[in-house]
Amino acid sequence: MAQRPQSTSAQQQPFINLEEVEQLAKATLPKMAYGYFAAGAETEQTVGDNRSAFGQYRILPRILVDVSKVSTSCNMFGYSMAMPLLVAPMAMHGLAHSDKELGTARAAAAVNIPMCVSTMANMSLQEVAAQAQHPCMLFQLYVIRDRQIVEGWVRQAEAAGYKALMITVDAPRLGRREADERNRFRLPDHLHMANLQVLAEKRAAGQPGSTALLDARDSSHSSGLFELFAREVDDTLTWEAIPWLRSITKLPIYIKGVLSPADALLALQHGVDGIVVSNHGGRQLDYSPAALDMLPGVVAAVGGRLPVLMDGGIRRGTDVLKALALGASAVLLGRPVIYGLAVGGQPGVQQVLQTIQREFELAMALAGCKSVADIGPQLLLRCSADGLQPVAGRARL
Ligand SMILES: Cc1cc2nc3c(=O)[nH]c(=O)nc-3n(C[C@H](O)[C@H](O)[C@H](O)COP(=O)(O)O)c2cc1C
Repeated sequence: MAQRPQSTSAQQQPFINLEEVEQLAKATLPKMAYGYFAAGAETEQTVGDNRSAFGQYRILPRILVDVSKVSTSCNMFGYSMAMPLLVAPMAMHGLAHSDKELGTARAAAAVNIPMCVSTMANMSLQEVAAQAQHPCMLFQLYVIRDRQIVEGWVRQAEAAGYKALMITVDAPRLGRREADERNRFRLPDHLHMANLQVLAEKRAAGQPGSTALLDARDSSHSSGLFELFAREVDDTLTWEAIPWLRSITKLPIYIKGVLSPADALLALQHGVDGIVVSNHGGRQLDYSPAALDMLPGVVAAVGGRLPVLMDGGIRRGTDVLKALALGASAVLLGRPVIYGLAVGGQPGVQQVLQTIQREFELAMALAGCKSVADIGPQLLLRCSADGLQPVAGRARL
């Protein structure tokens, strides 16, 4: 059983970049928790590709631009955010730190970065919203078999003031994460997946149509989470889910987990409000392509009609600049946020977000960009066998 992580300390943590924070978290966290956060699917080829894809680009700076004032801010979801970056939806922050999702949300609010709360959070979506008072939170939806419960989450998200829904579509089953099998992943007794408690309650009330779930510890498979997904998440889901969701809510709908340009077009036709190019941080289909590699194709297919976001492998301010230059409206940051939480609770997350913002601001200044609007494909060169090649691209929305 994992031990309870350390409580919050207000001082700065000894990391100066987002790669170092992972090493600190690895040394801090129980093996099962670190394994769960860090793992990718099977050989972890996609995890590595997500990161190395950024290495294929060089940034061509423009000189003699007055960069005494650089603005990293932008507007999304009716919110003026510190930079084009969101906290990615991630399950079970409680495994990282006793501050749980609240620590992350308060840190994000303090630095003006939107946060997406996962269906599989250790706090209910209402608790996070009520206690964090973050002006821009999104709710990530897993569509489980029981649509009444999904609709209930949507109603709760609306009532709690969430600004958008992000439906995750790359996980009809859970990818095979060998670390979780090896460590026989279970939730420690002091944690539960608060939004899923309603399933257990329905079961207790003997309602038809609801299936058994208490939490990930009730399992015979070596990874409790794998089994929970197989039981509860709807693997019959098709494009019909988008108009259904549209019919029950006015909240903007972002679809997360798009890699193919053909799927991006279908998403557009089915009426989504935004697309997230993502392979779930390499945790689902091993050997799926790096998100950054698929970004230009999706941006071209969408043709400026919708915002396109991306995630996977963002670790540096220059990574954000590259993704924006390839047409992303914003990026999502995953694991480094959890690692910041693990090593320092809320202040640790704050430090992670401030670190990447400072790096992004410096990269913009050194590249000759005064505002996010100045970032475009003209800034990028792609490494190829014939040397560096200019990148032709489409402007961001
Ligand atoms: C520990 C962990 C839990 C995650 N949980 C979810 C989740 O509940 N829902 C979801 O849509 N994506 C989930 N993701 C995927 C992230 O939203 C995001 O796509 C990914 O972490 C981005 O890659 P990065 O970690 O390299 O930044 C999770 C990722 C991690 C690392």
